[in-house]
Amino acid sequence: MPSLPETAPGCGEPRTLRNRLDLVAHGGGNWTIVTKTSSFTAPKGVPDYLPPASSEFVAVRDGLVHAARLAGYGHIELPVFEQTALFARGVGESTDVVSKEMWTFADRNGESFTLRPEGTAGVMRAVIQHGLDKSGQLPIKLCYAGPFFRYENPQAGRYRQLQQVGVEAIGVDDPALDAEVIAIADAGFRALGLTGFRLDITSLGDDTCRPQYRELLQDFLFGLPLDEETKRRAAINPLRVLDDKRPEVRELTANAPLMIDHLSESAKAHFEQVLGHLDALGVPYTVNPRMVRGLDYYTKTTFEFVHDGLGAQSGIGGGGRYDGLMAELGGQPLSGIGFGIGVDRTVLALREEGKPAGDPARCDVFGAPLGDAAKQRLVVVAAQLRAAGVRVDLAYGGRGMKGAMKAADRSGARYTLVLGDRDLAENSVGVKDMSTGEQRQVPLDEVVGVLREALAAG
Ligand code: HAM
Repeated sequence: MPSLPETAPGCGEPRTLRNRLDLVAHGGGNWTIVTKTSSFTAPKGVPDYLPPASSEFVAVRDGLVHAARLAGYGHIELPVFEQTALFARGVGESTDVVSKEMWTFADRNGESFTLRPEGTAGVMRAVIQHGLDKSGQLPIKLCYAGPFFRYENPQAGRYRQLQQVGVEAIGVDDPALDAEVIAIADAGFRALGLTGFRLDITSLGDDTCRPQYRELLQDFLFGLPLDEETKRRAAINPLRVLDDKRPEVRELTANAPLMIDHLSESAKAHFEQVLGHLDALGVPYTVNPRMVRGLDYYTKTTFEFVHDGLGAQSGIGGGGRYDGLMAELGGQPLSGIGFGIGVDRTVLALREEGKPAGDPARCDVFGAPLGDAAKQRLVVVAAQLRAAGVRVDLAYGGRGMKGAMKAADRSGARYTLVLGDRDLAENSVGVKDMSTGEQRQVPLDEVVGVLREALAAG
């Protein structure tokens, strides 16, 4: 391959990654521009988060993480891909997530890895691998935030790269901990201003009652005139049939036995105590015994936060207990409970309620210099303001006062600093209040203090 020319032939532009991509080599080291526009797009169902709307995403993610921090959950940063078998074993082979939605690839040695479809299995793997479960400090409380990957059919609120904030509390089987986890999610949503959501909760029982219930449910389902596909589902994962949305199946299963009526004494007592704590905390809930979650590891308390303003993709968060998961993955038989909240859907739910989160303004102060000497001075003022914790941007590129004021408007700044040669000679700067349009002169060496005070006053 001939080396790339510094300038794309015939266009005189400096070489950039863009025009590198647009160049095609001929023999003999000649280059031709094939196209001037990139046709690259993000993969289907993978959103970009761009300003100013990305401020909503950041506010929701950070707000939910903050709610977990207030309850002592420490940050865990997980790998974005793990061994495929971890998810197959952890999440369950028969789930849609594992059987249809995983992004799986072989590495150069032929080992199979998968982009993480969820966080709980990875947290368990990390806890076991690093021996956190043997530290004697239980429960282990961890919080994570980031992208997860599911090969689903993209639609509003359903993405192939989705963002979650999750918590996991491992090693203590205390109903108060179940209530804490649920209350964190509830408080996180409310702190963001979200109100139009509800909490569905049920108990999926434990080892001592679930197997018998499963048989009971299967006996019931096998006696129904179900189609072949649904019968197959009843054989593999009978609970799933109760979640079937088709009216004819709903009608047929209306009198199906429910787990909640067949709980063991201990599972029943656990569930009642969880509800008692939620009552005491003032967290509203609806017991929904037909609720079915898409992951296999759940035991006892299981819950989902639903926002009816979102249409089909109404689940804004969900979670529950997974008391057998750690042992299943080769660790100690420790219990666990957690949730995963969909950041994307929470952003959509807030918009739906007309309460967009976050501050779309890029800065508090914008500098509009006229001339090189003014710019040099404003660059220094900007650095002083930033050092004092004030967000500042400047008009670059010598676009003149009109262009600079337009940029100031677009930035969302509360104040614009207007500096020309005459102001400079008088050692003062114009401070324009962008909400009222009023402008006053302030001595240049006092402007940092004046702006800090004005911004602190709100
Ligand atoms: P999940 O219910 O599969 O649970 O996902 C949690 C949340 O992630 C959902 O309620 C939804 O808001 C969001 N979500 C899921 N799939 C998508 C998608 N394709 N597009 C947009 N948002 C989506 C879990 O992942 C469990 N690991 C939660 C958990 C933690 N259970 C115990 N600990």
